[in-house]
Amino acid sequence: MGYYYILNLAFHARRRPFLELTPEALGKYFELKWFVIAHITTGGGSLILGFIQFWPSLRNCSWKAHRAIGLLYLLAVLASSICAVILAVTTAKEVNWAYAFSLQIWVTVWISSTVIAYYSALKGRYTLHKEWMVRSYLVTLAFIISGLALKTSYIQSLGSFADISPSLFWMDGRYPCIFTR
Ligand code: HEM
Repeated sequence: MGYYYILNLAFHARRRPFLELTPEALGKYFELKWFVIAHITTGGGSLILGFIQFWPSLRNCSWKAHRAIGLLYLLAVLASSICAVILAVTTAKEVNWAYAFSLQIWVTVWISSTVIAYYSALKGRYTLHKEWMVRSYLVTLAFIISGLALKTSYIQSLGSFADISPSLFWMDGRYPCIFTR
């Protein structure tokens, strides 16, 4: 619960809609509030678990722990992305079709890159596993970067949320491809 409270503060410094859980505070998310809460909580979990996996001294400290944390990362991404699919075909459509479509594509990339990374590890192909884990984690980070960028006055001055966000998601989504080349 404390962890969920911190996530709320991080994402909504002034408003705290996901703590109040009322129709007024949650708006379009009210009907699907448990999916949103599960999405944010497990998405935040994937950020922390992914960070631990990439920290060299933590990773090399114990291979058993690396495997267990890796499995938790996979489960966190799967849970968060299943909720994201539901939100992308419901609440996101209220913004516009382009916004909902770009989120549907990126949630597909998020699930696929994570499952490929896990499958490569199971098959013992560790170079491939590392490459796909980097992609998976960069996709996770890209959505946080987009979310924060959308809150800056410079990005907001370029146009409305509905106009700007699809282009920003596509631009940020390219980082995993560029950085892993
Ligand atoms: C590839 C990764 C991700 C995808 C595709 C994704 C997708 C989505 C979608 C479809 C929504 C609903 C948007 C709407 O109805 O307007 C949403 C909302 C949200 N997501 Fe994610 N998400 C991702 C990663 C994350 C992560 C890692 C976090 C971190 C905790 C997160 C936190 C949130 C929050 C706080 C909201 C509510 C946004 C608001 O303030 O209105 N997401 N996400």
